[in-house]
Amino acid sequence: MTELQQLPYSSADKGWLRYEKRQDLPCLSTIVRHSSASGEAAESAIRELRYAILQMTGNEPELIATANLSETAAHGPHIQLAMVTAEDLPEALQTKELSQHLGEEGFALRSLPQEEGEAVYIIGKTEKGLLYGTFHLLRLLQSEGQTLPQLDIIENPKNPLRMMNHWDNMDGSIERGYAGRSIFFKDNQFVQNDERIRDYARMMASIGINGISINNVNVHKVETKLITSEFLPDVAKVAGIFRAYGIKLFLSVNYASPIQLGGLETADPLDERVGAWWKTKAEEIYDAIPDFGGFVVKADSEHRPGPFTYGRTHADGSNMLAEALEPYGGIVIWRCFVYNCLQDWRDRTTDRARAAYDHFKPLDGQFKDNVILQIKNGPMDFQVREGVSPLLGAMPNTNQILEFQITQEYTGQQRHLCYLIPQWKEILDFDTYAKGAKSEIKKVVSGELYPYAHSGISAVINVGDDENWTGHTLAQANLYGYGRLTWNPDLSEQQITSEWIHQTFGNDHDVVEQVSSMLAASWGIYESYTSPLGVGWMVNPEHHYGPNVDGYEYSVWGTYHFADCDGIGVNRTVKDGTGYTGQYFPENAERYESLVTCPDKLLLFFHHVPYTHKLHSGSTVIQHIYDTHFAGVEGVENLIQQWSSLEGKIDAKRYAGVMARLEHQHKHSKEWRDIINTYFYRKSGIADEQNRTIY
Ligand code: GCU
Repeated sequence: MTELQQLPYSSADKGWLRYEKRQDLPCLSTIVRHSSASGEAAESAIRELRYAILQMTGNEPELIATANLSETAAHGPHIQLAMVTAEDLPEALQTKELSQHLGEEGFALRSLPQEEGEAVYIIGKTEKGLLYGTFHLLRLLQSEGQTLPQLDIIENPKNPLRMMNHWDNMDGSIERGYAGRSIFFKDNQFVQNDERIRDYARMMASIGINGISINNVNVHKVETKLITSEFLPDVAKVAGIFRAYGIKLFLSVNYASPIQLGGLETADPLDERVGAWWKTKAEEIYDAIPDFGGFVVKADSEHRPGPFTYGRTHADGSNMLAEALEPYGGIVIWRCFVYNCLQDWRDRTTDRARAAYDHFKPLDGQFKDNVILQIKNGPMDFQVREGVSPLLGAMPNTNQILEFQITQEYTGQQRHLCYLIPQWKEILDFDTYAKGAKSEIKKVVSGELYPYAHSGISAVINVGDDENWTGHTLAQANLYGYGRLTWNPDLSEQQITSEWIHQTFGNDHDVVEQVSSMLAASWGIYESYTSPLGVGWMVNPEHHYGPNVDGYEYSVWGTYHFADCDGIGVNRTVKDGTGYTGQYFPENAERYESLVTCPDKLLLFFHHVPYTHKLHSGSTVIQHIYDTHFAGVEGVENLIQQWSSLEGKIDAKRYAGVMARLEHQHKHSKEWRDIINTYFYRKSGIADEQNRTIY
């Protein structure tokens, strides 16, 4: 067996790294490695390239050094890998344009006719660039009608930090996980077999991810010990696998570690003993993992410990940790998901949506350079639809990173189809007006708007040890798309979808067309039978699956819709509501404040209105609720029809797996439709104009 045939890859689904046989590829019998293309990540790039070409063409390409190029017989098209600084780079490639435009993680792909045959050069400034360039070339080779294309591409990632957050616990469970158990942990230990972790690292590198935190933000007892000698050797092993794919490992830490691990009676950030304890801890961690990324911290949030216990601010708390990591280049990612989770539902003045802004905005400028505030996309909690967090863009002097949720906690738990790229694009393109028009969120988090020292995008991941990684095979598209969008938020939805389908299901025209159309429609369909007009939280408490209109209405969580016999919605206006609209910059504040300009989609998020209120669409609120719920179920029926038209064009296993989920979705969407329609019919006493069945 050759080295390539023995690669330590697992037998799990290959996702978008299938590299299926292609008839139209040239033979690509040679890969030329320049001496500059060395190091672990460069090795990974070359291994991937050879493996992929073997899979796609059936021939294992020979790997040779530049010096031997002229002696090699039978040339033809081939690939060369080199650093931009390499002296043996052909003159045509030693251009100012390349050396000036190529960033630390960027790559160039250049076609160049040579004596030995057509060459494609993969050029990086660093090894990571070579890795990303390799994956990009492979992506191009798998798209429709591509042979060895005429390439002239330079790409740099738009976001410096491109992160995944796992919510994995060491017992193997995953908080809000819908795709099996953890790929890292089992029975309070690290897994022994790391094949899945290697596959995973490849998948992440292929979409440009460069930082991964491996454990849940709710750091329980055993996980608190991840930063001790008991587990650091295991953490270092995983960090080693990640390193070879250009990824830094991060850990979520327990703010009360000095008490739980250090025997101190306090975790007060201004107590010198606490700071000293963390400094010693940082030294120990960096001894084991010299390129450790840093800490992710959930503090004073949903009963987690934090600086509030000691009357200190979040700046005090995060800066103390940042000081400990600073000598090693580590960063503190401090989450802004801080709110009162013991609210009295009778109290209509407190508004959970206000909380992050109220807590953090006044602290702007008080954080150290290696602290980044991680802000959820919306002010509530990853609902199907909610406003965009007004904190994004509102702190010019404090690093920010945006947090998305790929795992489908509130969007169908990977049993319903819900493609989230359209949602994320809407958020990234949202204009905050922070510095006048065109101050979109994507420019805030990329660091373009304000000169942040660190910034980017993070997301709660949707993978587990299910054979297909994500439970629903089509939910892989969210994982793929997240990475691509984080690399470049200007990529269109269509582009991302098409790339994913070509790599995952091949080039059949019908497959591409039907799957694209299913994905594109799916968020809207899910929204229509679950969350009318921006109202959220009509779900069963705790597990958050399935309809329960009053599930959270009389709870402590601050998550209400206030439906009564006259109307529904949360009045968040400045005029006579909670004042939340005033947290936006004036252009948006005014738009949301007024019923005349507030978009229908967010009406009930910002206003309490009668059921008979007329929408911009011309319909009334109550009729809209009925119509969308009936339409939603029909939408699912269309999805089933589209998928069934692909029988025989997709392998039987994946076909059947998706079909089973769609059938469940169909049944469950009827449950949603009937419960919600019936609830609002009984509350309002207003009949459906079309007299359809409501119970
Ligand atoms: C949600 C989710 C929790 C999670 C929390 C967080 O509330 O339901 O499971 O811990 O978000 O983001 O910290």
